Amino acid sequence: MTQTSPDGLRPFLAMDILKRAKVLEGQGRTICHLEVGEPGQPPAPRVLEAVARALPQPQGYTNAKGLTALREALARYYADQHGVAVDPEMILATMGSSAGFILAFHTAFQPGARIAITRPGYPAYINTLIGLGFDYAEITVRAENNWHLTGADIEAAYREQPFEGLLFASPANPTGAAVDRAQLTDIVATCARLGVQFISDEIYHGLDYRGPSVSALELTGDAVVINSFSKYYCMTGWRIGWMVLPQRLIRRAEILQQNLFISAPTLSQIAATVALGERDYAEERAADRGAAGAGIRSGRGWGRGILRLCRHQPLFQRLAGLLRNHARPGGGGGNAGRGFRPGRRGWLCALQLCGNKADRGRGAGAVAGVSGHRQVVLGVIHCAGSRPPPQPSRQGECLVWARR
Ligand SMILES: Cc1ncc(COP(=O)(O)O)c(C=O)c1O
Repeated sequence: MTQTSPDGLRPFLAMDILKRAKVLEGQGRTICHLEVGEPGQPPAPRVLEAVARALPQPQGYTNAKGLTALREALARYYADQHGVAVDPEMILATMGSSAGFILAFHTAFQPGARIAITRPGYPAYINTLIGLGFDYAEITVRAENNWHLTGADIEAAYREQPFEGLLFASPANPTGAAVDRAQLTDIVATCARLGVQFISDEIYHGLDYRGPSVSALELTGDAVVINSFSKYYCMTGWRIGWMVLPQRLIRRAEILQQNLFISAPTLSQIAATVALGERDYAEERAADRGAAGAGIRSGRGWGRGILRLCRHQPLFQRLAGLLRNHARPGGGGGNAGRGFRPGRRGWLCALQLCGNKADRGRGAGAVAGVSGHRQVVLGVIHCAGSRPPPQPSRQGECLVWARR
């Protein structure tokens, strides 16, 4: 399950766990899904109504860039939420932000180019880069610095091994670290000085519980910005997101989209257009997830935001202890990921404020070994250090899968 291919490509472990969970579910087991970061709620009712109205109509391809109505609504979103004027012609609807990464890499770089990412980071970044034939550089971010990336970190990594691009997320997965305006300005300015193309993954915007998220578009017209309807708008399975590109890159991105994907799914574009007008609903869902996390105690090494992370040994006891305190509807769900590549030593555990309330509550109880429910919790326990990992353990109905 965890084999690495010769080029370093690895499975997306959370998706492997999801696959296994679905098999167990198909066998009639009750699963608390804590493995992938998904909101547990459906999109807003008006979104579903719009899709139901559209369903009987033929659903052809759209303009490769996406429905005009969607791109105009996104331009309004940037004006209203970020105070920036974005030309709808610079916006491209994608199949989630995941497709946005493919388009961004092939638009802004030639195969073989080196792109920097943070470590720990969202595991799919590195695997997408490897899978597409790009090279990567990892810039380590540390708990001592609240997992923040700084301009100085970028500069030091660049001096050691130059790179052509930097892909950066704020709030970040898995740390939850979110930069403020000054910190993002530092990152953007450093990239500009070094001639590094900045790619901003803004998928967790709206879920930064410290306040409004700052878009790279507020600071520069030269960034590639990638965003998604998956998290804030509760639309993971709809596979719909968007990119904003500088003028010099938009045509190449459009051509790639035409050839690689033709267009994003039409029904999902219709849904997304309506979802943008339903921010009250999205805010309520986000507030619910925020409240779920508010009870999780902060401590050394903890990030803030949608995901919280700790590095402790042994991880499992810590995770179980934390979750025991929150074994009630609204508690946090746990996913400890090898894929996050935290470093050579230590344990890494991210508590995701996602899933539905019932899953989080029951899952928390199960992980803590205090649940009487019939359920299975699947998680990945990370072990990158030299010490032996905890044994794969079953506690009550809780299955924790451990790998070296
Ligand atoms: C930081 C980050 N970026 C991108 C994605 C991919 O999201 P999607 O393709 O659903 O938009 C995820 C998913 O969890 C993520 O955590």
